[in-house]
Amino acid sequence: MAAATTRPLPPASDPTGERVAVIGAGYVGLTTAVGFAHLGHDVVCADIDPDKVAALAAGQVTHHEPGVADLLAAGLASGRLRFVHGAPAAVGGARFVYLCLPTPMLGDGRPDVSALLDVADEVGALLEPEAVVVNKSTVPVGAHRLVGERLGRGDVAVVSNPEFLREGQAVRDFFHPDRIVVGADDPDVAIAVAGLFSSLSCPVVATDPVSAETIKYAANAFLATKLSFVNSLASVCEVVGADAADVLVGIGSDPRIGHDFLRPGPGWGGSCFPKDVAALLHLAGDAGFDFALLRAVIDANAAHFDRVAAKVLAAGDPASSGLDIGAPLRVAAWGLTFKAETDDLRQSPALEILGRLAAAGADVRVYDPVIDAHRLAAHAPDLDVEVVADPYAACAGADVLVVLTEWDEFRHVDLAKVADVLGARRVVDTRNVLDRQALVRLGFRADNVGGR
Ligand code: UDX
Repeated sequence: MAAATTRPLPPASDPTGERVAVIGAGYVGLTTAVGFAHLGHDVVCADIDPDKVAALAAGQVTHHEPGVADLLAAGLASGRLRFVHGAPAAVGGARFVYLCLPTPMLGDGRPDVSALLDVADEVGALLEPEAVVVNKSTVPVGAHRLVGERLGRGDVAVVSNPEFLREGQAVRDFFHPDRIVVGADDPDVAIAVAGLFSSLSCPVVATDPVSAETIKYAANAFLATKLSFVNSLASVCEVVGADAADVLVGIGSDPRIGHDFLRPGPGWGGSCFPKDVAALLHLAGDAGFDFALLRAVIDANAAHFDRVAAKVLAAGDPASSGLDIGAPLRVAAWGLTFKAETDDLRQSPALEILGRLAAAGADVRVYDPVIDAHRLAAHAPDLDVEVVADPYAACAGADVLVVLTEWDEFRHVDLAKVADVLGARRVVDTRNVLDRQALVRLGFRADNVGGR
């Protein structure tokens, strides 16, 4: 996983910037706030959680995101970045008001925009004349109209500027975007919003708000579709005896397919893909188009979780190794978050798979570099697994080890020590991070997703 800031940040610009309010200091809002401050804008960032505001004002980052801590410190030191409690305290004097609020998935798969609308109600009367409200959050197509109605200000434009930040690489993606998308009814407003990023040399896609909102959903839905295809193809390779790694290099060499986002794994998850794919499916359906392909993409991902869990159960099956069949299967697991370089457990494939293993009666002991037992219990109270603080402790006496996230830490573990502490030398490496030759030399039965 390339470090978040492997590419140099643009020089911190002179404070010739705009006055920007950022509402929401979560995964998107905090990166947006510290990024804008680095670009020279005068930023006030608000959050509803007073403890989070106090921590950030003291320079303490409130979630794991490589590179943000340094930008937070620099922004605070420059005086161009402040944190306040509550949206109303942030919008005074601001020409641009960025809404970086959660839009989680409701039970019916549709996005919940209540946080967005609550803030619109709070700040409508407080906005500066001619202010520009910018939806950075992933919002349902047409949400800009809803926000505009709730603001109740004819002189205030509402535009869409969707984010394409990947967790774990958000700082890199903020300063090196492939494109800036701005959806505005007034071209002059689009130019003004794009101007906030003028020190970044990247293409600007200026369009109407509905198209900009659709771009966001379409991008994530396409990427999830690509991954459902990759994981399904990897499973085909297993049954026909092909090497998925070679097959994927072979197809990825076609620039129309590309090598990016072509890594088989345990399935896709996170706070965005599941929510955005479901939202587009329902959005299309509500508008009269049955987006059956997306339903298949979702189903294929769930089926992949089943396949990976079954693979672990089969790999660790005591009967297959003469171990005591009566005892429950002991599974060692590495990784709980939805991918490496994040502390985000939302819709994590690891939790999907570990839940299936626990439901099948396995005793699961899991290690994660950034998640402890308290964090997991708060997020998934019903998940019956034991969290340990050390990758080797997770392996002690286990019948099989399953690797579920691609932390660099796992690439550098002492495999000989793992071999010694495991009860049986069997591993399912769903992320292909372990040295396969070394595993074979140490006598492991090594399985992965798609490999021979
Ligand atoms: C995604 C989009 O990439 C980003 O542009 C958008 O703004 C937010 O949603 P994120 O959810 O942080 O970003 O994660 P991403 O890196 O895209 O991975 C999504 C899922 O796909 C993860 O579960 C990841 O493990 C998986 N993945 C990704 C693979 O299994 N294989 C790959 O090759 C890439």
